[in-house]
Amino acid sequence: MFKQMKKRIAIFISGRGSNMETIVRQTQSGILKEVCEVALVFSNKPQARGLETAKELGIETASIPSKGKKRADFDREVVHLLEPYGVDYIVLAGFMRILSPVLIQAYRNRIINIHPADTDEFQGIGAYEWAFENKKEFTKITVHFVDEGVDTGQVIAKAEVDLRGADTLEEVERRGLEVEHRFYSEALEKVFK
Ligand code: GRF
Repeated sequence: MFKQMKKRIAIFISGRGSNMETIVRQTQSGILKEVCEVALVFSNKPQARGLETAKELGIETASIPSKGKKRADFDREVVHLLEPYGVDYIVLAGFMRILSPVLIQAYRNRIINIHPADTDEFQGIGAYEWAFENKKEFTKITVHFVDEGVDTGQVIAKAEVDLRGADTLEEVERRGLEVEHRFYSEALEKVFK
């Protein structure tokens, strides 16, 4: 019988890495098990907490500090680093750096991001603060392909977050992250299968 080749992914993080952790767990024993494997967790911050989490989960990690580097120079280093891993897709999960065309062209239509708002409504950082300050009863999470713009790429899927009664920023974030953790893996499964 024909067995589907699993996609090889690199997950990019800059900090906590809670989305990365749920994706890794889903590849190890969940809905992503048959469709992809994590070749590498990469960070532009060597101190990112998520790198330790990834190691504990048995995943290879790497980091290149981005501080003070020109976007294109840094991205060229990243493309070079990724080469031996044979990565099919880059999955951004809290990667706090805008990508240059160097990386986007090398992985055209193969870079995916999660944005904690509806990309038609709000772009850039601070999405949960925006939802909280505007007293939104519902917000959305968007999973999308990455293009040269900021949160402008083709949408893969959106999921709703019920914020009714969420009266602190912490509660808004908690509810949002709960949806992100479930929804990112579901969206990735659709892309990879
Ligand atoms: C998430 O809210 C994600 O949507 C945004 O940055 C946050 C990262 O959190 N891009 P974590 O590192 O996955 O815990």
